[in-house]
Amino acid sequence: MFSKFLKHTITHRRIWREEQVVRQLTSQQVFEREQKFGAHNYHPLPVALTKAKGVFVWDVEGKRYFDYLSAYSAVNQGHGHPKIVKALTEQAQRLALTSRAFYSDVLGEYEDYITRLFNYDKVLPMNTGVEGGETACKLARKWGYAQKNIPRNQAKIIFAENNFWGRTLAAISASTDPSSYEGFGPFMPGFEIIKYNDPQALEKSLQDKNVCAFMVEPIQGEAGVVVPDIGYLQKVRDLCTKYNVLWIADEVQTGLSRTGRMLAVDHENVKPDILILGKALSGGMYPVSAALCNDDIMLCIKPGEHGSTYGGNPLGSKVAIAALEVLQEEKLSENAEKMGNLLRAELSKLPKDVITAVRGKGLLNAIVINSKYDAWEVCLRLKENGLLAKPTHGDIIRLAPPLVINETQILESVDIIKKSVMSM
Ligand SMILES: Cc1ncc(COP(=O)(O)O)c(C=O)c1O
Repeated sequence: MFSKFLKHTITHRRIWREEQVVRQLTSQQVFEREQKFGAHNYHPLPVALTKAKGVFVWDVEGKRYFDYLSAYSAVNQGHGHPKIVKALTEQAQRLALTSRAFYSDVLGEYEDYITRLFNYDKVLPMNTGVEGGETACKLARKWGYAQKNIPRNQAKIIFAENNFWGRTLAAISASTDPSSYEGFGPFMPGFEIIKYNDPQALEKSLQDKNVCAFMVEPIQGEAGVVVPDIGYLQKVRDLCTKYNVLWIADEVQTGLSRTGRMLAVDHENVKPDILILGKALSGGMYPVSAALCNDDIMLCIKPGEHGSTYGGNPLGSKVAIAALEVLQEEKLSENAEKMGNLLRAELSKLPKDVITAVRGKGLLNAIVINSKYDAWEVCLRLKENGLLAKPTHGDIIRLAPPLVINETQILESVDIIKKSVMSM
């Protein structure tokens, strides 16, 4: 009797699950299900996506949109790039994960490739962007004790105001945004904040002998695409060298062709001591991040002192090689620069009483919406008209499409932006 009941229940559950798979949910059902079963740590725009290709995404009702967020710049190579998909599927069938307890025949190939490309001695592979930042901070502290003779547990790292490097306790300890840190204390000691784009403040802070590093984004992405003055990065380089402090460049969002150069620091031809990459390092396929530096820094960390189960796995390694190759083969830096110039030129023609500023580099751009209007409302209109973008800090909308976008598509999306703005 009991087994009959069990059999019935199992069959019933199976049918229910199959129905769930076969039956296409409406957008509303998608929203409600996530709201019910998921943590409320995001506030998504009301659009339920089901597929993507290149610069476009489609919702469950089949409506097509330009993707002007690119998964926060992870999808620089365009959605579903065939070369990256091929690398992913082939390697997944062969060997996905070994852990770092063993060698794989792929990790070294990736390490060789990425260190040559960015001209560093070594790479430490991780998964998410924030782990790249954590790795850089740990490397800098170790280096500070081992090479700069900073007294034990006294090392300091300097950050710039309005930085964003993720959501771990260390990252939010460096944050000046209350919505990131409020209610999560106590915080990481040894972190100090100075103004962004202010070489004088930097010089003052670097005079402290216990400072091991200055970590900064070459353009502040989450802060609303804040572009520093020309020459700032060169000054950062010079000051860090002068005071024997490591310069950590967080290129998780700005890197990998997004700003019209392979790295945003390339705009000033300067080289950080530690480079952090993430997001587009996998073309949006899989979490892959990296911290790159030379031996004098990297070899301060010894076996067992840092790592991650998935970091440097064969699957991520193959995907990263493919993602980096696509950027170069398809000249995506050049395209980002060209299309970015066109986008900003066209956006500058739009009514100034709604869009008060247009700024950015390459295809990392933002428009500032007049405080009379609600940026969230503008994004809802953009969505209605077929373009997805998300506001940041209330009045700023980031415009960062995949770098494979072409001229016709830029002009078509500007028309959508124009139509949406005019309707406000
Ligand atoms: C500059 C920068 N660093 C680090 C991160 C964190 O990356 P992740 O979300 O993959 O941890 C982000 C994410 O937006 C970022 O913009």
